[in-house]
Amino acid sequence: MKKKIGILTGGGDCPGLNPAIRGCVYAAEKYGYECVGITDGWKGLIEGTTTPLSREITEYIIMKGGTMLGTSRTNPFKQDSDENLKKCLETFKKLDLYALVAMGGDDTLGVATRLYKEHKLNLVGVPKTMDNDLSVTDYTFGFDTSVTRAMEASQALLDTGASHHRVMVLEVMGRHAGWVALYTAIATAADFVCIPERQIDTAAMLKKIKDAYARKRFALVVTSEAAELPAAGEDNIKHQLDQFGHRILKDRGMGEHIASFIEKNTGIETRNAVIGHMQRGGAPTLFDRMLATRVGLKAAELVHTGQFGTMSALVGNKFVGVPLEKATGQLKTVDKEWFDLMGLLF
Ligand code: F6P
Repeated sequence: MKKKIGILTGGGDCPGLNPAIRGCVYAAEKYGYECVGITDGWKGLIEGTTTPLSREITEYIIMKGGTMLGTSRTNPFKQDSDENLKKCLETFKKLDLYALVAMGGDDTLGVATRLYKEHKLNLVGVPKTMDNDLSVTDYTFGFDTSVTRAMEASQALLDTGASHHRVMVLEVMGRHAGWVALYTAIATAADFVCIPERQIDTAAMLKKIKDAYARKRFALVVTSEAAELPAAGEDNIKHQLDQFGHRILKDRGMGEHIASFIEKNTGIETRNAVIGHMQRGGAPTLFDRMLATRVGLKAAELVHTGQFGTMSALVGNKFVGVPLEKATGQLKTVDKEWFDLMGLLF
């Protein structure tokens, strides 16, 4: 009887999950394992819902966005009782899993870390997130595709902004880290960028925009959905939280706040656009297909060599196993080195 590896994808989807599943299945079968998909993230492990996986089934998913396994933001450790956790452990047993490969960001891998440490399950992680904010891996797949999509949107805004002599504001995702906003802004020669790591210096922003407008009669600002604008008056707004305790930012309207702040304080006509979930879907870029395939392959190797409690990571030019705990301990956010670079570019 072949040993069985379960694979699940949790948290927000992103392009690259399908290539990663495929890579993991291909390598696992080569090593002599069979694979089964757990559907909809940790929810599937609680409810015991599965879907078959094989080389044949995954052959052509490398070019598809989303995840063929489905996903959810379910947190089995969330409930007051340990009912859901118990169900996860039962499913693991019932499915006769030798190991489980969990593909996700900080939240999903945080659950994987606890299942490994506290319940001695054979867990291996695969890093994914369009936010690119996981530590101990140089990049996470999903980021390159999302930024590419945001970059295209930003460039389109430049065209229309230049024609109408307006200030254009683009809002992109990025819950705790400003990587998507920063890369998009750099790549499209924006005049100002707003990221959650640094409160917006409104005087500096207005000056940059006025100067840019005087020079070329349009200006572009890229903001993360999570940026802080002191004038937005958010202090009294109660935010909804997801199962992992994160603020849900979809109705926050930071791009809109920034656009009306700019228009009010400069007198220049300003428009804003939100790219939203469009940056999370669609075909993965070449970079993401390759990165995802390789972290998927590596995850199967980590299982095969018994390196449980680790995550496959890109470090330099190498794919290595790193402790899951290190990957989830602290988010990778925009730091001083990048602030200096921002000073030069914006
Ligand atoms: O997964 C990360 C992320 O894309 C964040 O950038 C964003 O704030 C959040 O997910 C949106 O989540 P949802 O798809 O649940 O609205």
